[in-house]
Amino acid sequence: MATSIWKRYFAESLERGQMERKWSSGGMFLLAAVGSAVGLANIWRFPYVVGANGGGAFVLIYILSMFLVTIPLLVAEIVLGRRGGGDPVITMRRLAEESGLSRAWGNYGWLSLFTTLTILSFYSVISGWSLAYIPKMLTGLAHENVEGIQREYALLTAGPGAMIFWHGVFMVFTTAIIARGLNRGIESAVKFLMPVLFLTLIVLLIYGFLVGDMGAAMRYLFTPDFSKLNFQVVLMAVGSSFFSASVGVGAMMTYGAYLPRSVSVWGVATGTVVIDLAVSLVAGLAIFSIIFANGLDADSGPGLMFLALPLAFSQISGGILVGLLFFVLLFLAALTSAFSLLEPTVLWLNDRYRVSRAAAAWGVGFVVWLAGFATVFSFNLWKDVHLLSVIPRFHDSSILDLLDFLVTNLLLPAGGLALAIFTGWRVARSTLREELGAGTGSIVFALWIRLVRYLVPVALLALFVGNLV
Ligand code: TRP
Repeated sequence: MATSIWKRYFAESLERGQMERKWSSGGMFLLAAVGSAVGLANIWRFPYVVGANGGGAFVLIYILSMFLVTIPLLVAEIVLGRRGGGDPVITMRRLAEESGLSRAWGNYGWLSLFTTLTILSFYSVISGWSLAYIPKMLTGLAHENVEGIQREYALLTAGPGAMIFWHGVFMVFTTAIIARGLNRGIESAVKFLMPVLFLTLIVLLIYGFLVGDMGAAMRYLFTPDFSKLNFQVVLMAVGSSFFSASVGVGAMMTYGAYLPRSVSVWGVATGTVVIDLAVSLVAGLAIFSIIFANGLDADSGPGLMFLALPLAFSQISGGILVGLLFFVLLFLAALTSAFSLLEPTVLWLNDRYRVSRAAAAWGVGFVVWLAGFATVFSFNLWKDVHLLSVIPRFHDSSILDLLDFLVTNLLLPAGGLALAIFTGWRVARSTLREELGAGTGSIVFALWIRLVRYLVPVALLALFVGNLV
């Protein structure tokens, strides 16, 4: 008798906990997921990676990868998350248990927490740059000549102080919002920030049309030169599409845990990836049209945004305002992405150890800030530290280069591979059908499960092995 009352109490409180832990609608999930997907990878990284990998042919592979690999995996990740209803560790354990599989699958959860925090540690340092450039633009950076702009960039990275400061400010923004919780924190933020972000992007695109060389930008992004394609470029395109859509390491699994049952996973997953892709292309067009109109080099690497753009803006009317908009855009995009990198660990601490959200967020945020020092130092104090210099490929890789490689080329493909195998080969088919609301006659389901079973693991295995050898 007494035990059944307790049982009911726990079952109910668990249920209530779950009910209070939902996105208020499917649209809110979509905003948060797009917020996570659209980030530095779209606005800062995509343009220079396209530049470094030969333009159109890379873009084509990137688009194919988005549809054939990234969407199927995102569907899987969200479905698993919603079914498990918790942080990645708990979710994978519950699912393994439900399908009678080894508890070792729970280790995917550890990979997830480790990877999301590792990404956040360097992601927030670069995001800090976007913040640092806002006052720089306001105080006349756009009036400088080439030397002046290079001097400013060098100044930011020369010593650890400025970067530690801005990286800290960025982490405070991120943490303060995560501490407020799902509905009052993330939702209120994306409800306001995402429209601002899209508006800014449209203004910049129009500006590119009016003042930039849109024709050259279009040719550059959409004329494939297949002679530029090689194994390496394909691997890069697939890895980048993962990173850009936030797929593979349980960030979306965590967001999926909050997804109401009534919402269709097909719709939100496809919507997220399509919008993410569109933003990359629009940002690429806006940036390249300005770069080309000013006769600047498309393949100038990570400095493309921080060196080339201020320079371009120094030459055109209204430059300061537009330049300012660019860095605000970059900051907003990065902020809504950072939420999804902090959330999994905060949820885990909250659920597993009953740490309050606020305490968990500030504690983890502080640790990530400290961990970010490794990235900061790799630009100055540790510039000449090459941890893996014995391996020819990493002969002069900095710590940031190694972290980036570890994440994009190893951890993300490994996480995606594990997800594909787990979903495609291990989880009970009936569970998947139930979560996706797909009957046995569903063609979409049949297509999806085949991609997840065959194409995705094979492509990822190739990616994984190809990167190691
Ligand atoms: N997708 C984000 C960007 O494009 C980065 C990001 C957020 C991410 N959450 C992630 C990458 C989870 C991989 C996994 O900038």
